[in-house]
Amino acid sequence: MSTVADGPLQASLARSTVLVIDDSEAVRTAFEVLLALHGARVLAAATPEEGLAVLAREPVDLVIQDMNFRREATSGAEGIALFRQIRARFADIPLVLLTAWTHLETAVELVREGAADYIAKPWDDARLLTSVRNLIDLRAARAEAAELRGARREARAALAARFDLCGIVYESELMHTLVAMATQVARAEVPVLITGPNGVGKEVLADIVQRNSERAAQPYFKVNLGALPDELLEAELFGTEAGAFTGARARSGRFEAADGGTLFLDELGTLSAGGQAKLLRVLQTGEFERLGSNLTRRTRVRIIAATNSNLRAAIRAGTFREDLYYRLNVIELQVPPLAERREDILPLARHFLERGFTLAPAAQAALQRHPWPGNVRELQNAIRRAALLAGGSVIGAPALNLPAAAAEEAPQPDRSTVEQALARANGVIAQAARELGLSRQALYRRMEKLGLRTS
Ligand SMILES: Nc1ncnc2c1ncn2[C@@H]1O[C@H](COP(=O)(O)OP(=O)(O)OP(=O)(O)O)[C@@H](O)[C@H]1O
Ligand SMILES: [Mg+2]
Repeated sequence: MSTVADGPLQASLARSTVLVIDDSEAVRTAFEVLLALHGARVLAAATPEEGLAVLAREPVDLVIQDMNFRREATSGAEGIALFRQIRARFADIPLVLLTAWTHLETAVELVREGAADYIAKPWDDARLLTSVRNLIDLRAARAEAAELRGARREARAALAARFDLCGIVYESELMHTLVAMATQVARAEVPVLITGPNGVGKEVLADIVQRNSERAAQPYFKVNLGALPDELLEAELFGTEAGAFTGARARSGRFEAADGGTLFLDELGTLSAGGQAKLLRVLQTGEFERLGSNLTRRTRVRIIAATNSNLRAAIRAGTFREDLYYRLNVIELQVPPLAERREDILPLARHFLERGFTLAPAAQAALQRHPWPGNVRELQNAIRRAALLAGGSVIGAPALNLPAAAAEEAPQPDRSTVEQALARANGVIAQAARELGLSRQALYRRMEKLGLRTS
């Protein structure tokens, strides 16, 4: 029945079911003919009740609904009520409103509440078809993404069944790959270098490596190399002999204490030249001396090191030893910034939220827009603060106190830019909005402000 030029999107419309709810038989027939011509299965209903009954009974990919269902009615009240019922019960079905030119404001209002698009009567067939196709494709793409998320959750569960994931929270493919890699390298006896910016979760990853290694039950110590001045740091790592310096007692260091186990060396990039030389020696030979002692001791420690500095640049600058670098980064786990794995933001936010609190939709949107320069730690702090500041159990966007979103600050497109985008998109709002990098709702608001009408 392909009498019309084949477009790339035709196949999806051809496999779809569209429900038309309109009291006018002429309108229903017109849609039936138009959409059936493009291969869609068309169901028709004359009243809101009939329409809801069809939705309850049949899988529907898109609804086109009228706003008035009796000849004498013009207020659109019935249409609004029907729209809200469909939205509440079948939230994921895109809905196109059929409206009179004189009632565009109501339609714009309902687009804000989640209607996918509106079409003014009398409609233009080409514009209607494009809109319907785009919406059906969008829904198919969303369904596919949801399926992918489901598959990822399964893969994650499979990983969690075999390994101790130390409570790490993620949803992104990037993190899944990284965590899977951490569990794999855990068993090897080689050093692991974990890199990434501040607060991304480097320490969580180090814990996963340790927990899943052969040394899981052996000692595990963490030393922050950036926190202590040189001499104290060496004392901490290698221990001291009594009298090594004023007040020093005989004491073992972390390399001794962690013998047979694992040492997590955090902030590796801050280690002094002297510290680097001693660390290199113990890594190469397993040998070291306590401060103030000539007695050489031996240790078998697995090193997990972490840094947020660019060690390659430090090597070029002459501040970090290349030989030490190659000793430590036998395996490198790079933790990506939160901004590169935005799917993790909401799961993490919910994880940090105390029981009983929920996030308002505007707060969720604000969290997803924020660039998170401080990564997961910044997110954790923002959520904790918001829970303290929120008046009730629902956290709104203001309580998060995030700087205004970049998208909102960006210069708004001017009239001619909007007009040109609309012309190129044949008036299809969703398409023009995508081209302008705006949400559909934002484009409608912009058009209202510029005094533009859809046509
Ligand atoms: N994927 C995650 N799931 C759950 N909690 C996380 C995750 N990533 C980070 N966190 C939490 O966020 C905080 C910061 O993480 P972590 O200390 O591991 O980051 P880091 O990369 O070591 O930071 P820094 O560079 O400042 O040392 C911690 O409280 C940690 O428990
Ligand atoms: Mg850390």
